[in-house]
Amino acid sequence: MSEFFDCIEKALFSSSIEKTIELTRVAFQISENGASLVEKQDRAIAPISAVKFPVKPLCVPPRELPKRRLGTDAGKRSFIHAIAHIEFNAIKLALDIAYRFKGLPEEFYRDWAYVANDECKHFLLLCDHLKHYDCAYGDIPSHDGLWSMAVKTQGDLMARLSLVPRYLEARGLDVTPGMLEKLKVQKDAATAAILEVILEDEVTHVEYGTKWLDFVCKGEGTYREKVFFENIEHFLKGQILGPFNHPLRRRAGFTESELAQLERLDNRYSR
Ligand SMILES: [Fe+2]
Ligand SMILES: [Fe+2]
Repeated sequence: MSEFFDCIEKALFSSSIEKTIELTRVAFQISENGASLVEKQDRAIAPISAVKFPVKPLCVPPRELPKRRLGTDAGKRSFIHAIAHIEFNAIKLALDIAYRFKGLPEEFYRDWAYVANDECKHFLLLCDHLKHYDCAYGDIPSHDGLWSMAVKTQGDLMARLSLVPRYLEARGLDVTPGMLEKLKVQKDAATAAILEVILEDEVTHVEYGTKWLDFVCKGEGTYREKVFFENIEHFLKGQILGPFNHPLRRRAGFTESELAQLERLDNRYSR
């Protein structure tokens, strides 16, 4: 196994936050240095249930989560912690797509190592910011909604690309500008500055979802738009919620016809 895939695997299967980040960064540096990322043909793939997470935060059903109202210190703390949790899961998600799906061009692995490294940066920015609220990552219970989508799509790369970067991460493009507005009204420039960094980086992550879904669909003789909406129908019963941020989604590769179809689904669901 090349050192790159070795690092990806060890990062994915470590329950230590520090090790996960350290190994992710090494994998990214290897990929940035232009090393060849050729994997061994017989590299064994462990089931997704074997992926490890830190013992804290405690995982609870969404209804038991603390309120995240931005107006109070406690609410702000929960809000920042919730985003840190999303970012930590996003590190594991990017590692998992590079680990689980074999036989793709080297650029595929390079792109997802780049994303995993971005997610480490986002996570650390938020952890640092949490200190101002006397809080550390793990102090507040969280839920595993994000990871459950990785589990559901573990055997199907087209589903993974449709549902993780192009649905879950794309949702961040829709909702973050509204959060930024609220933070600016509150004159919370520090939190807003972090969310601005995250938002800009996430456009690229969604764009990679578009790029690789296109690539895989072409290889299978099918079309991205068809496959994307089949997966939205299959995994979400077509229940996708807007409003959608058209300019940011366009930058991330959504076509006018995809945006129009998303709007139709949103209208159908909210009727
Ligand atoms: Fe992120
Ligand atoms: Fe991301």
